[in-house]
Amino acid sequence: MKIISLRNKNEISKKVSLILFSEIKKNPNLVLGLATGKTMIPIYKEFIKIVKKSRLELRKIKTFNLDEYHNVNNTNSMRNFMEKFFYNPLKIKKSQIHFLKNGENLRKTCRDYEISIIKSGGIDLQLLGIGRNGHVAFNEPGSPINSRCRLVTLANSTRIDAIKEFGSLEKVPIKALTLGIKNILQSKKIILIAFRKYKADAIKKAIDGPITKKIPASFLRKHKDVTIILDKEAGSLLKKI
Ligand code: GLP
Repeated sequence: MKIISLRNKNEISKKVSLILFSEIKKNPNLVLGLATGKTMIPIYKEFIKIVKKSRLELRKIKTFNLDEYHNVNNTNSMRNFMEKFFYNPLKIKKSQIHFLKNGENLRKTCRDYEISIIKSGGIDLQLLGIGRNGHVAFNEPGSPINSRCRLVTLANSTRIDAIKEFGSLEKVPIKALTLGIKNILQSKKIILIAFRKYKADAIKKAIDGPITKKIPASFLRKHKDVTIILDKEAGSLLKKI
């Protein structure tokens, strides 16, 4: 596991965007695993700037998103977030985008999603944020290392953190569809990003604590190509960087 500590979210956004840029430059058919959340907004904004400046070709990439709220209205969906902050500004075509969609048979939705990841050759580069309880995607504490794509119940702290987007706790969905830890660990390369003080405890437990399903992000230490990119505040409780 590689840890990169930077001064602030601007430096982090530049760093991650440059990694995305060079990975796509190397492999125009890159299969990209994408995340939503406030952490990703400055990164996507910076990446858009770089793409526009460099005219990087994105027509052949494929994207797979990690998760989606269950029975969510369009405005608050993760799909909508991605349209706004990534797909529309970058003119990513529908045929390039893969998303977990709500529907009748969610088991089948999940199995089909896993199959389409495999058919695309697997995720080359997965971006991840982290919840303050140590979740990755919506793998809440208690998610085992062999967990796969499924419908999960959100932790209270996760729902509380989403109040800003939804307006009130009652409006925050109770469940969500998510890729599992096993799916995430099958990605070839993983980059987890965290900034601000309120992520420091989760980062400390994920990196310095035991590998346990109580902190699902700790399972990332089982992967051979993980980079954690942090600002000083998010890394402030680590033993050493
Ligand atoms: C959400 C998402 C995660 C995200 C995390 C952190 O619940 N399911 O994919 O990484 O929480 O979100 P934020 O970046 O807003 O702190």
